[in-house]
Amino acid sequence: MSESDKYPEDSGRRRFVKGVVGGATLAGVGATGVAGINSATSSTGAGGGTTQAFAIENTAGPAPRGMPQIPIEIDEEGYLKGVWPEVKTVEENGVSIQIAETEDYQGSGVTYSSEWFQYCGVESYAGIEPDYDSDNYFISGSNPGYDWQSEELSEGDRLNVSMFEDYQSWGNGIGASGLGKPATGRWRSEDAEDTIPIQVIRSPRIEQMAQDDPWLQASTDQGFVAWLNKCTHFCCVPGYKQAEDAAKFDAADDVYCQCHQSVYDPFSLVETLFVARPRPE
Ligand code: FES
Repeated sequence: MSESDKYPEDSGRRRFVKGVVGGATLAGVGATGVAGINSATSSTGAGGGTTQAFAIENTAGPAPRGMPQIPIEIDEEGYLKGVWPEVKTVEENGVSIQIAETEDYQGSGVTYSSEWFQYCGVESYAGIEPDYDSDNYFISGSNPGYDWQSEELSEGDRLNVSMFEDYQSWGNGIGASGLGKPATGRWRSEDAEDTIPIQVIRSPRIEQMAQDDPWLQASTDQGFVAWLNKCTHFCCVPGYKQAEDAAKFDAADDVYCQCHQSVYDPFSLVETLFVARPRPE
């Protein structure tokens, strides 16, 4: 985790947390101190704070945690969407703020919140605004990083189930074939300066895992799993079977970040706890 990720300059809340960590313990602060916490919280940007998210597991390298999962939805024509949580207005210490949060997501017992994505500067991206106007489809970019995707798709095309029919056998010479077929894209980034990078894999493993897992049943579909593709170390964009040198780090069948060799397992979805950064006001 970078220093800026832990203690963003623009966050009164995080400055307070830093003060607590480095100074007096909360136990000694008393009632006045508690009021201080509340006012510090309300004076910062909206949302943020301690957040529990589902993530593809970080298994090696310096990254502090996994990358957050994006629940999938497939429309009646087979196009893939990342689900955005329900937009609500809540009062926080007398201030109205918008949040995006779905409690008990599809009966899984999991609270799915847009705070999952508030790190690495993404918290300031337009698409992270709760009410950002987007159809939420996953869109292929100009340089997707896979030959199959460059050959079959143009910049701006939506990802569709029909493009993944060979998912049980696909391979590209990196690691084993048949684990799943990947694609890259962007999400909630129409007309936005900063695009939100995503990666998706359709895998027989995910289909199997979803059979007896309420969260995976709710958040994956037809073997598709997706995540926000920003390394939680220093925010590079990693890749699944994209880098030849992944094999050197035993990551040929994993998601691998070339910047400092962090490795993530896309077939291990785990709960992760972190301090989400607030959205700027
Ligand atoms: S390992 Fe450092 S940015 Fe990914």
